[in-house]
Amino acid sequence: MNYRHAFHAGNFADVLKHTVLVALLRALTRKEAPLAYIETHAGAGRYDLAGAEAAKTREHEAGIDRVLQAPRLPPAVGDYVGIVAAGRADGRSPGEYPGSPLIAARLLRPQDRLLLCEVDDTACAALRLAFAGDPRAALHRRDGYAALAALLPPRERRGLVLIDPPFEAQDAEFRAIEAALAAAFRRFPQGMYAVWYPIKLRRHVTPFHRWLRGCGMPEVLLAELLLRPADSARTLNGCGMAIINPPWQLDRTLAAALAALPGLLGAAGSGGQRLAWLVGAAAPAPGQGRG
Ligand SMILES: C[S@@+](CC[C@H](N)C(=O)[O-])C[C@H]1O[C@@H](n2cnc3c(N)ncnc32)[C@H](O)[C@@H]1O
Repeated sequence: MNYRHAFHAGNFADVLKHTVLVALLRALTRKEAPLAYIETHAGAGRYDLAGAEAAKTREHEAGIDRVLQAPRLPPAVGDYVGIVAAGRADGRSPGEYPGSPLIAARLLRPQDRLLLCEVDDTACAALRLAFAGDPRAALHRRDGYAALAALLPPRERRGLVLIDPPFEAQDAEFRAIEAALAAAFRRFPQGMYAVWYPIKLRRHVTPFHRWLRGCGMPEVLLAELLLRPADSARTLNGCGMAIINPPWQLDRTLAAALAALPGLLGAAGSGGQRLAWLVGAAAPAPGQGRG
């Protein structure tokens, strides 16, 4: 396994994933009751965009940097940017980019828990450092898919599972996600699940969408962002989030964010977005269709 998220931190895919994550956690934390936040693929937790890995790819320049410079942002994107900026506010870590575990930690309350799975030694060590002294967090150095059987259902009986794999296995990763989701949903059907997926060629994603339509889950919302047409297997042309059991009105919250993101990321001419109910839910949000 070679994947290191430090090379990609803050790129356009993180902008979409983390905007959706913030919206999900805002909705979940509206109720006082405790919740569990579970990540199957946690990463290092914190990244330095001034560091050697980020400097090699500079992917953040076409991602979070553009969004940070924008004069006006839709509320959901502004909320995410505020959380990124909070980590830089004391001036000691101007290049900090928070990974999903740290973003979640900034939104969760003392009564909530974070259960974080990661297999890479370097990422695990960084994660341990990022969460040193946070009694809410438990780190699991193990395969995140397999860990779900042990971690679900959480004792809180409410929560969010984020599945954000590196997709080194390409199509096989989709099949691994499907197997893990089916088993997880049997153990914890009331849970909320969010799955990140890459879009290179559209036809690689179609079988996953077909599976989601037929797997018996009552509500599945898709949020997709494209920088370019999905017609090349060589580049990451876009990405999506599949959200199972989404909170009420998430589609409305995300509609303005998705509409603005291609333009904010400099892809107004070539890119696009899609917000669609694959399964269930009420009438589509204004201007959006069913996929
Ligand atoms: C895309 S990164 C995660 C980024 C993180 N979720 C974020 O948004 O900040 C994927 C991570 O999964 C880890 N990983 C790969 N296979 C895994 C597995 N089977 N179980 C747990 N972690 C795994 C990699 O080491 C890598 O750190």
